[in-house]
Amino acid sequence: MKIIIHESYEEMSVAAARVVAQTLNSKPNAVLGLATGSTPLSLYEELVRMHREEGLDFSQVTTFNLDEYVGLTRDHEQSYHYFMREHLFRHINISPTNIYIPSGTTDNYEAFCAWYERRIVECGGIDLQILGIGSDGHIAFNEPSSSLGSRTRIKTLAKITIEDNARFFEREADVPIYAITMGVGTILEARKIVLVANGKNKADAVAQAIEGPVTSMITASALQLHRDTEIYLDRAAAGNLKMIDYYDWIQAKGPAAPTTEHWRADEAHAQGTDAAAHAAREHSRETT
Ligand code: GLP
Repeated sequence: MKIIIHESYEEMSVAAARVVAQTLNSKPNAVLGLATGSTPLSLYEELVRMHREEGLDFSQVTTFNLDEYVGLTRDHEQSYHYFMREHLFRHINISPTNIYIPSGTTDNYEAFCAWYERRIVECGGIDLQILGIGSDGHIAFNEPSSSLGSRTRIKTLAKITIEDNARFFEREADVPIYAITMGVGTILEARKIVLVANGKNKADAVAQAIEGPVTSMITASALQLHRDTEIYLDRAAAGNLKMIDYYDWIQAKGPAAPTTEHWRADEAHAQGTDAAAHAAREHSRETT
């Protein structure tokens, strides 16, 4: 797990957007997993800027969104379909046929969920999954006690999630109670994962996800089992991390492992030292 802490939300978002750009530059037909919520807004803004100003190309990209509220049509202003259209899709050159978002209005959820899982596999699997985190430590809508092996399915939202998300609706009573969401198991199959979190109200969930035990009570903690996860935080969201000095230290020191050149130089140095020591031993034997 790589923990990258930036001083501000904006810097954090730009850094995370760069990972998306690098993925697309090395694989123009990459499959992206996308998240909603207020956290990735600035990341999406940066991707739109990169598209407009630097020609970041989405023409061959396929996307799968994590989740959707059950019962909201795609034109409902609080649906995740609407969110994605408004904040990303209508500003970039992605083909509408390459966009997948769980349906909140299908008449057969079981069949839909199975199809969604199949479609991800048929498209080659998710290369890069973007995630936010709920204040109860959830990823997508995998609320506490979700199986860490779970697949796309319907989940009942936790009270705290309904309260958190009520700010987007006119009244709390308008927040849907159910959502269709990728499972933790689905998410863990992504080749690379980038989680973004900002603000003090995420500091607890972030600390538990990174430094706590792997537990279905904080589904983001399952990311500890993933081999290529990067967590981008602003200073406030990193506020409760016990090892914060260590993460800052790693960041200041640069890449985690020496390059091949370093290894070679070290090896040559070691051999040279061995040879010198051997010569010294021989010399002392001859002279005594
Ligand atoms: C919802 C979404 C999550 C998101 C979370 C946090 O529950 N299903 O994918 O990470 O909200 O949202 P925000 O970024 O607005 O805090």
